[in-house]
Amino acid sequence: MPKLSVIGAGTMGTGIAQVAATAGWDVIVNDTNTNTLDKSSESLVKVMNRLVEKEKIDQKTADTILGRIDFTEDPSYFENSDLVIEAIIENLEIKQKVFSQVEEIVRPDTIIASNTSSLSLASIGASLKDPTRFVGIHFFNPAPLMPLVEIIPAVQTDTKTVNQAKDWVDGWKKLTVLAKDTPGFIVNRVARPFYGEALRIYEEGIADFVTIDWSLKELGGFRMGPFELMDFIGNDVNYTVTETVFQSFFYDPRYKPSFTQKRMSEAGFLGRKSGKGYYNYGEDSTKPEPNKDEQVGREVLNRILVMLVNEAADALFLNIASREDIDLAMTKGVNYPKGLLKWADELGINWCVEQLDILYNEYHEDRYRCSPLLRRMHKSNEQFYN
Ligand SMILES: NC(=O)c1ccc[n+]([C@@H]2O[C@H](COP(=O)([O-])OP(=O)(O)OC[C@H]3O[C@@H](n4cnc5c(N)ncnc54)[C@H](O)[C@@H]3O)[C@@H](O)[C@H]2O)c1
Repeated sequence: MPKLSVIGAGTMGTGIAQVAATAGWDVIVNDTNTNTLDKSSESLVKVMNRLVEKEKIDQKTADTILGRIDFTEDPSYFENSDLVIEAIIENLEIKQKVFSQVEEIVRPDTIIASNTSSLSLASIGASLKDPTRFVGIHFFNPAPLMPLVEIIPAVQTDTKTVNQAKDWVDGWKKLTVLAKDTPGFIVNRVARPFYGEALRIYEEGIADFVTIDWSLKELGGFRMGPFELMDFIGNDVNYTVTETVFQSFFYDPRYKPSFTQKRMSEAGFLGRKSGKGYYNYGEDSTKPEPNKDEQVGREVLNRILVMLVNEAADALFLNIASREDIDLAMTKGVNYPKGLLKWADELGINWCVEQLDILYNEYHEDRYRCSPLLRRMHKSNEQFYN
């Protein structure tokens, strides 16, 4: 079995170590902070105990998995790794420094990867003498539970590196999709309107938080409404991702952040973790009742859905990923009830174009521009899937 080293023993590093060790790999977990290493080790023991209690695995298997993971502050242990995955703080300079140090330790054929969510892989890869062996391997949180992994080659990456990384991660029983090195890759790009359009609908006074959430869940089949999800992710984290994506897209108005969310974040109304966000999470708090007016609900759902479809279509138009990978990414990375391109076929491409044009004609904002791909398909009467 090949050997993995994980740099960063936080949320993601610990989860990735569990995934690889469960698949039979020996894993070294490294962190500059000993406390974090201890916490990581303790949390893995707890997870394994829970799996044994639930009879998902037996005690012997749990012990074997844990026995495959070593924790160390010393990066020289990376020496024999076949793959190194970095999952440290989201800071380009620090990542670059770590990567140039790692390259001095590992073998020339070791694949070096980053789990970054928002930085450009090209810029991280530029810190390596041999960037052909560098690739993005983007897990979702919690890594052991979320089936999707985005594999992102940088412009410098060799095809051999991409294929090897994909094979290994597939072997960890994950579903891999291939994405271009552009902001948000697939999931964090295509999902933007789920938050952004919901916030805009609220700001216009069309519906309140709970009614918007109700329409997406009840009428759209989404597991969580946008405001519940933002409260779950944390308004600070979600706002920062939105702002980063907006800047990285050279301020394309389609990704414009919302003042509502910025103010929530500034006020410390971060969501579940702070006890208050769009909803209250105190002990005696009760959830407000939605306005279950089906007409309002449909208007809300259709507007968010068509904006999501437009984003997915544009990702395909710009070759960010294949049709199948875009649909797989949204169903397996963020649990959408259907792939958006498949959904677009069901809604009708004509209907999607018409809805986007209604929005564009009403607001005259570039945010509502219809993807050229949808317009082309509408003209030639095509569908995404036949
Ligand atoms: N949390 C998520 O939902 C999520 C999802 C996908 C990707 N990511 C990405 O994964 C990476 C890690 O995120 P996280 O949420 O696990 O962070 P985290 O804060 O939980 O963990 C980061 C860890 O890295 C350690 N660290 C910092 N500098 C280091 C160094 N020089 N050497 C070794 N260890 C070092 C810290 O001590 C900390 O334990 C980031 O790039 C993030 O964008 C996060």
